[in-house]
Amino acid sequence: MRRRLILQILIIGAALVGLLAPFGSTGTVAQKASPSGKTLAGIAIEEYQQRRERLMELVPEGIVLLSGKTEEEDSEVEQKFRQRSYFMYLTGVEIPGAILALIPKGYGPEKVREVLFLPPRNPARERWTGPKVGPEEAVSEFGVQRALPTTAFENELSKMLERAQVIYTVVPSGPSAPFSRERAFIERFRQGVEVRDVRPLLAELRRIKSPAELALLREAVRITAEAHREVARALRPGMFEYELEALVMATFLRNGARRAGFPPIIGSGPNSTILHYQANRRLIAAGDLVVVDIGAEYEYYTADITRTYPASGRFTDRQRQIYALVLGAQKAAEAAFRPGQTTMRELQEVARRFLRESPLRSRDGQTLDRFFIHGLGHYVGLDVHDVGDYSKPLVPGVVITIEPGIYLPDEQIGVRIEDMYLVTETGLVKLSAHIPSAPEEVERWMARRTTR
Ligand code: GLY
Ligand code: MN
Ligand code: MN
Repeated sequence: MRRRLILQILIIGAALVGLLAPFGSTGTVAQKASPSGKTLAGIAIEEYQQRRERLMELVPEGIVLLSGKTEEEDSEVEQKFRQRSYFMYLTGVEIPGAILALIPKGYGPEKVREVLFLPPRNPARERWTGPKVGPEEAVSEFGVQRALPTTAFENELSKMLERAQVIYTVVPSGPSAPFSRERAFIERFRQGVEVRDVRPLLAELRRIKSPAELALLREAVRITAEAHREVARALRPGMFEYELEALVMATFLRNGARRAGFPPIIGSGPNSTILHYQANRRLIAAGDLVVVDIGAEYEYYTADITRTYPASGRFTDRQRQIYALVLGAQKAAEAAFRPGQTTMRELQEVARRFLRESPLRSRDGQTLDRFFIHGLGHYVGLDVHDVGDYSKPLVPGVVITIEPGIYLPDEQIGVRIEDMYLVTETGLVKLSAHIPSAPEEVERWMARRTTR
């Protein structure tokens, strides 16, 4: 009898492993979609080619010039390299100092339409930072039409510009714009041509996620859920916020995330009311609420999920009321959603109204919508606050957060609940639905805490 049971368990286990395998290590997710079998950061090189083609269709009369990140720009100490998101989106190339040129009309005798400029290989430097793909290998490694050394850029640029009147690039804005690398980049080719910002065009492409992007986002969510589970199991008064941060980061890295998509926010007690608190230095006390706002970055795609935990394992009555109200606001926004029609602003208004209509009040008698002091949500993708026009309806393929919050510094009560949603033809799919958020579920989850 027992032997048969063990056998059955083994068979079920094997079947489950088979079922779950496609969602396990998603290094393989994108490979299936790539006829060449080549992927860059989990995305097939064919998909990068399609993205470049789509952008070229939008700028038939111009050319696109985009500079990637250089290794030196951050500090003297080498930082872990993260390519700029726009450049990554179009190329998947993580070589410092790369430049991409797209020429929809083609240039030169062969009518080349895309050129990747890469720094020439430097064997001495590679002894320090490892081998890099150089211009010679780039066509086969990255699937671009032509690759040249960056030393040839100026020369080639004048040839490309012979027939183009408009250059699309990242035009810097803001107070530091005049001193930015982009500005220096633009100054090199400004004479006689009009320079336009390529970002709105790219932002609209990036707004709609492909199946391959969704697979990476789902993996980022899975890892982030894992980290929340670790937090729920470990949290107790007497811990430092940074101990939870350590647990979160260890869980991310152990599961193959490259990094956090943004600095983990672990805010206890008074810090729960500070929206982007990142110091994570406080000793957590009994009775505190702890806002844990975290997101793993898997390949280049980040999650962004918040739960608010009672440090002692149970919410006080007041905390529970506020918590339930925040959760209600999230549900009201979900219920009001119509794919292809609703905008983020409309959802925001729904949540705000829900908070305003509650009989709950702050200590000084105000309605609680006054303490919801940030936006209801944002796009998520290559960047945590991903690009895209917020006045547009939320169409199938976009991924958003819905994250109402109430922050009452007087009472040291901050509650934020943040989930990620994919918009489909029929409505919202809550990607982070498996992470408990009802107050009693959170308490039950925490009740399984291990004792130390
Ligand atoms: N973690 C930043 C945000 O929720 O927008
Ligand atoms: Mn967010
Ligand atoms: Mn967040």
